[in-house]
Amino acid sequence: MATLADRIRAVSDLTSEQAEHLRTLCSSWQVLADLSFSDLLLYVRKNGDGERFEICAQLRPFTSQTLYPQDMVGTVVTQPEQPIVERAFREGRIWAQDDPVLVDGVPIRMDAVPVRHDGEIIGVVTKEGSPATSRRPGRLEQVYLQAAEYVSEMICRGRFPYPDTPVGDWPKVGDGLCVLDASGRIYWASPNAVSAFRRFGVKQNILGRYLDDLRIGRTPVREALDTRDLTDGELSSGESHILLRCLPLVDDATVVGALILVRDVSELRQKEREISVKDATIREIHHRVKNNLQTIASLLRLQARRLHSEEGRGALNESVLRIGTIALVHETLSEQPSDVAEFADVARRIGVMVSEGLVSPERTISLKVTGKTGRLEADLATPLAVTLTELLQNSIEHAFPDQASGSVAIELGREGRDVVVTVRDDGVGIPEGSLEAASLGLQIVRTLIGELGGSFTITADGGTVAVVRVPSKERPPG
Ligand SMILES: Nc1ncnc2c1ncn2[C@@H]1O[C@H](COP(=O)(O)OP(=O)(O)OP(=O)(O)O)[C@@H](O)[C@H]1O
Ligand SMILES: [Mg+2]
Repeated sequence: MATLADRIRAVSDLTSEQAEHLRTLCSSWQVLADLSFSDLLLYVRKNGDGERFEICAQLRPFTSQTLYPQDMVGTVVTQPEQPIVERAFREGRIWAQDDPVLVDGVPIRMDAVPVRHDGEIIGVVTKEGSPATSRRPGRLEQVYLQAAEYVSEMICRGRFPYPDTPVGDWPKVGDGLCVLDASGRIYWASPNAVSAFRRFGVKQNILGRYLDDLRIGRTPVREALDTRDLTDGELSSGESHILLRCLPLVDDATVVGALILVRDVSELRQKEREISVKDATIREIHHRVKNNLQTIASLLRLQARRLHSEEGRGALNESVLRIGTIALVHETLSEQPSDVAEFADVARRIGVMVSEGLVSPERTISLKVTGKTGRLEADLATPLAVTLTELLQNSIEHAFPDQASGSVAIELGREGRDVVVTVRDDGVGIPEGSLEAASLGLQIVRTLIGELGGSFTITADGGTVAVVRVPSKERPPG
């Protein structure tokens, strides 16, 4: 799907920087819709055509009923249809419709706000609301509408969106709003803002006070007023956390006040903490499993040393390698933030381990891992790791009997939901019938892949090509 900036560039003559400004505006304009109780539409001028404007983005208010249940994006309007859009664009001034116009029998008032960037007008935002459906006017409405005027002026002057607008979710006007005067004193607080501060332990009346005087910690107010830029802050006290986003309202060059969006994030922080504790626990468990497996492997290694029979020693040493592979998967998982691992990381480690264990110094066998599987869960990664070890081991042990060198390639990939692992060597090729007569190695592979509901083929093709394909629960990456 095209991003908003792409869409804007496709329909207009705007540069990528200008389109980016409009995209940032649209990531922060909910506050304007909510303060003005209005639907917002963003118009840009069609490419090569000064007469027509296309709606590139639309936003509905949370504080009022929408006038546009339908999707308006893509609608093209002409100058006679929307004279004030064209006029705001041409003159760089905010234009309000003198009288409400009737749309489908509903009276609608409309303001057109030009969007300035680096001195140039690059689009127009209309605020449209219906006096009939909007709320009973009271003090709250007055304060909101006045704040909306300031924000509109800032858009027109090129001061909104702020230079440092953070990406991501914004707190909403409905979460809580304080309005500050030019000195930073609170002159109005929404009921939700008052409740958020109460839950935070602020029992006194906050009206007429400075937030920084309430002894609740360092707030972002001072910095926002000094830098005239959006500033975030978070206050914490025990289990309570409130997020404050301070938006300074700037006239031509002077700060005339500020808005603070107040959101109680206690629940959110609590959840994040729980998730991170759970993650740490899972990592710790994988770490311990890895340690236990390594202990088992060293017990077997000790035992192998005491055996006199060559065959018995070989068998135990192979088991040591197989257990080592499983330990490796747990080690990888113990380093991940969640219970899934990119199999390419595991495959690389297995490559190092197998070649260290089997390749004698006189031989040079090159080993390469390409591709990615995306993140896999342990119940898939573990059998795949054991399978890969067997296949690699076979290539190194059987493919190059007389040669001193050769190469082995591990190719990882996805085909839809299937994870595909290919091991390819340029050796002598597997003899016909080996799969049927397989000894333990290939039997293990067949059993594990069968249990996962996957398929396994091994063929001689200028060397040996083994292909493992298993279905995964996870979606492919990207
Ligand atoms: N990459 C390969 N190149 C050539 N021959 C192969 C290759 N892979 C397997 N083979 C042949 O297939 C046979 C069966 O392999 P399998 O892994 O089942 O047993 P193994 O390697 O002999 O013993 P184990 O893996 O149990 O130690 C091997 O003995 C070997 O002859
Ligand atoms: Mg083998």
